[in-house]
Amino acid sequence: MIAIHYETGNNYCIRWKEYCIEKSIPYKLVSCYDNDILEQLEDCKGLLWHVNHFNYKDQIFAKYLIKALENRNISVFPNDRTSWHYDDKVAQKYLLESINAPIVDTFVFYDKKSAYAWIEETTFPKVFKLRKGSGSKNVQLAKSKEHAKKLTRKAFGKGFPSLDMSTILKERYRKYKLGKESFLGVLKGVVRLIIGTPFKNMSTNEKGYIYFQEFMPGNTFDLRVIVVGQRAFAHKRMVRKDDFRASGSGNANFDKNEVDVNCIKIALDVSDKLGLQSSAYDFIYDSKGKPRIVELSFAFNPGPNRNHHPGYWDADLNWHEENVLFEEWMIDDILGKIEKNEILKESK
Ligand SMILES: Nc1ncnc2c1ncn2[C@@H]1O[C@H](COP(=O)(O)OP(=O)(O)OP(=O)(O)O)[C@@H](O)[C@H]1O
Ligand SMILES: [Mg+2]
Repeated sequence: MIAIHYETGNNYCIRWKEYCIEKSIPYKLVSCYDNDILEQLEDCKGLLWHVNHFNYKDQIFAKYLIKALENRNISVFPNDRTSWHYDDKVAQKYLLESINAPIVDTFVFYDKKSAYAWIEETTFPKVFKLRKGSGSKNVQLAKSKEHAKKLTRKAFGKGFPSLDMSTILKERYRKYKLGKESFLGVLKGVVRLIIGTPFKNMSTNEKGYIYFQEFMPGNTFDLRVIVVGQRAFAHKRMVRKDDFRASGSGNANFDKNEVDVNCIKIALDVSDKLGLQSSAYDFIYDSKGKPRIVELSFAFNPGPNRNHHPGYWDADLNWHEENVLFEEWMIDDILGKIEKNEILKESK
């Protein structure tokens, strides 16, 4: 028996459930928010949970529950190795550096004095980010020494909201002008600016650290490579007009011939070395044309339509022109692990 954390909304769990029914896989639906969740999982060998970085509850305890379940020999998707660095760019810096992965040079400081000393010596612009966030919401250019110092003062002062509703409203309006957002969507943005969202209202400000990345100019897109098990698929995300940021632009290209297979190779290799069940990598290019990883994330948005990826590459870089059924792969992989009883090995 496997358990599925089931919640309505845009979530992998809907397809997970359908697949279990289609394949007669014994399953039960659970809520990880229940106090007796460990008891409820007593008859289960596995749990699938689409942990969501925009859910404040998940942010509080998902990592701890996953670790506790692994101690009980329950196979979890996402497992600890896959999820401990989720939605935390600071964690990802150390993770990627630990295997000498080709990450964009990243600088993190935990006090104002060290940050100022570095700012005095380095060049600008740099890219400033919060450790949390998606869709480029918490990513901006630190244009000059002065700008970087201002950001530093804020980082070690009142901090930054992890979800800035005015940035989100501006983004909705930008998409509305492009015909990619409804008027109702813009209105929703206005209401949320006033009343917030559960995530916004329960989150504390981001502070006590400052994160910069070397700015890689001239990238007109980033390449998002998603690896699930040993299968990789990819698409280009085009940058916004007069901007350097691609994620969240709403403009993507799914043509297989546009994909740099070097990035596929790197992504498969990193996932393999780190033992990740699922990971989306964002690649951009440095001044020498070398692909660099910007960040990674176990969860990903597959895009507006289900079947726009024309196929996937396997671990030997063979191309398979087949539907990309990633939710099914996640279940197949978990069931494979349960069969081989690999959970203990995995959590070491
Ligand atoms: N160091 C960099 N140099 C140049 N461009 C960058 C750099 N880092 C990020 N970008 C651009 O900014 C975008 C957003 O950055 P990043 O992926 O780190 O943020 P995010 O909000 O977490 O995105 P996601 O939605 O992919 O999780 C990227 O898609 C990329 O186009
Ligand atoms: Mg990104």
